[in-house]
Amino acid sequence: MADSRPIGVFDSGLGGLTVTKEIIKLLPNEDIIYFGDTGRVPYGTKGPETIKKYAADDEKFLLSKNVKLIVAACGTVSSVASEVSSKLPVPFIEVISHSVKSAVSATRNKKIGVLATAATIKSGKHKKLILDMMPDALVTEVAGTLLVPIVEEGFYGSGNPVLENAVKIYTKPFKDNNIDTLILGCTHFPLVADAIKKEMGEDVVLINMGIETAKAVKDTLKSSDMLNLNGGNHKFFVSDKGTTFEKTAFALLGEKVNENNIETVDIKNI
Ligand code: DGL
Repeated sequence: MADSRPIGVFDSGLGGLTVTKEIIKLLPNEDIIYFGDTGRVPYGTKGPETIKKYAADDEKFLLSKNVKLIVAACGTVSSVASEVSSKLPVPFIEVISHSVKSAVSATRNKKIGVLATAATIKSGKHKKLILDMMPDALVTEVAGTLLVPIVEEGFYGSGNPVLENAVKIYTKPFKDNNIDTLILGCTHFPLVADAIKKEMGEDVVLINMGIETAKAVKDTLKSSDMLNLNGGNHKFFVSDKGTTFEKTAFALLGEKVNENNIETVDIKNI
């Protein structure tokens, strides 16, 4: 039996659109409701209690839109608030565990890097999952705090000196430890993947959480007989439109987001 309810996807801001893009590629017939908490971004510099509270607000909003499944398209929420979210009345998919599996199968020298927000790195979630699967792995973790505002500000174009300098600083520990696989542990980072690749070299495998997560969404819907056969509409909600939403959303999603398809939500009063 088909299930025509939408999939709910949320992130602290626009980064989750990199996951949404992969879901759309794999599941073009699904309706999607996206919420970006642009008024409260970044989450990655906040403490666990605040992140859990924000995640609960975001999930409550998506549930009010009658979604059939929720994707936390945010590494920070996935690492800090997954336990609470797994109690939701609909299936919940986070972005970390599937990308860790890919990293473990991609590495040749067992040296894996994780580039994520400060809160994600502090949670130690990637490292724990990697070591559970590969106990002799060497895991190098770096908090790439400035990369989130760099993306939200639209400074991700090739050759941007702000971006290139930040990438140089954040990738040094990975180079020093000779990693061969790097998890882009924040959903904002696929946008700066080219700059990271340029700095790290072509041989380093970059793991994009969106691709792995989209596969998990498809598997979950398929195995529960919940696929939509006739949808394909995408609706966007934010807690603050700001000035760069349309431009950045286009770059992250690869499709034009019309002004009238973006609604502002008072997320604190849901
Ligand atoms: N996109 C989010 C993540 O994947 C975080 C950015 C932030 O809010 O700090 O962690």
